[in-house]
Amino acid sequence: MTKIKQVLVAGASGYLGRYVVQEFKERGYYVRALVRNQDKIKTPGPYGEPAIYDIVDDIVTGDITSPQSLKEICRDIDLVFSALGLTAPHPEQTSHDVDYLGNKWILEQALAENVSRFIYVSVFNQEKMAEIPTIKAHELFVDELKKSALSWTVIRPNGYFSDMGRFFSMAESGHIFMIGEGEKKINPIHGADLATVCVNAASEKEPREIAVGGPDIYSFREIMEMAFQACGKTPWITSLPLWLAEGGLIVTALFNRNLADLLSFAVEALKFDHVAPPYGTKHLKDFFAELAKKRE
Ligand SMILES: NC(=O)c1ccc[n+]([C@@H]2O[C@H](COP(=O)([O-])OP(=O)(O)OC[C@H]3O[C@@H](n4cnc5c(N)ncnc54)[C@H](OP(=O)(O)O)[C@@H]3O)[C@@H](O)[C@H]2O)c1
Repeated sequence: MTKIKQVLVAGASGYLGRYVVQEFKERGYYVRALVRNQDKIKTPGPYGEPAIYDIVDDIVTGDITSPQSLKEICRDIDLVFSALGLTAPHPEQTSHDVDYLGNKWILEQALAENVSRFIYVSVFNQEKMAEIPTIKAHELFVDELKKSALSWTVIRPNGYFSDMGRFFSMAESGHIFMIGEGEKKINPIHGADLATVCVNAASEKEPREIAVGGPDIYSFREIMEMAFQACGKTPWITSLPLWLAEGGLIVTALFNRNLADLLSFAVEALKFDHVAPPYGTKHLKDFFAELAKKRE
């Protein structure tokens, strides 16, 4: 009889992590989820990502920056998938603490427990944003992973529908401040489509980096206009010059370094196109329509 493969999903409570858990379960894996708060996964996430509490086989609870209680996290695990990362400002934790040191700690446990493969989610266009703290932290970890004895895949997505959902929330309020003219292009991807790419990588043998985006290319301005349309509002977009946003970052850094570091990614990312090889069947227009329906 073939042994059921056991996977640890780190970042299981996040937008991508929940879809990945769901996809692994649909393909017959035993799934151990690392979360900070079990209650969070009992209900769907804000952008429609599934509740996973009832489908996971095992839950380990803990914060990766205090990992002492997580020592057995990779026991009996064949494969680690990590979408664990800092995506919102935290008063004490930095991207270096979470994305780099946190994932490095999981990698060390994986090596100690003879895990065979590690799939990690980093970022697309990383070479263009190499000095941004979030990217630095992701790539420090990618370097560790590549040097390790494990077989690996690095997934490089450009932008998730959840991130575009933030434009929807702003459109709902009636007004969006846009940095620059919004002419740069992106093909964002739905979490479920990206989860298919991530779980497909579980059965590959060779080390590989996979750049991936969604099926439709839009300019950032077009995405904002679509968000206004979905919530039935007349588009009201105010363009802020890039120099002003960069000046704002310098001021923000004076009183909140962690916030400025995370915002610097958002500002830098608007300077160029993020068109990655297309994958998937889910469309941003439908995603916005679903968000609008939920608000009714
Ligand atoms: N969003 C995008 O457009 C995008 C694009 C490219 C790459 N990425 C990368 O993809 C990854 C996943 O993104 P996402 O949008 O799914 O992020 P997300 O929804 O914020 O999920 C991040 C996950 O990491 C967990 N986490 C954060 N700090 C932790 C800590 N100290 N200890 C334990 N768990 C911790 C979160 O737990 P909680 O639920 O408890 O907070 C959550 O499960 C990130 O590394 C991100 O940089 C994102």
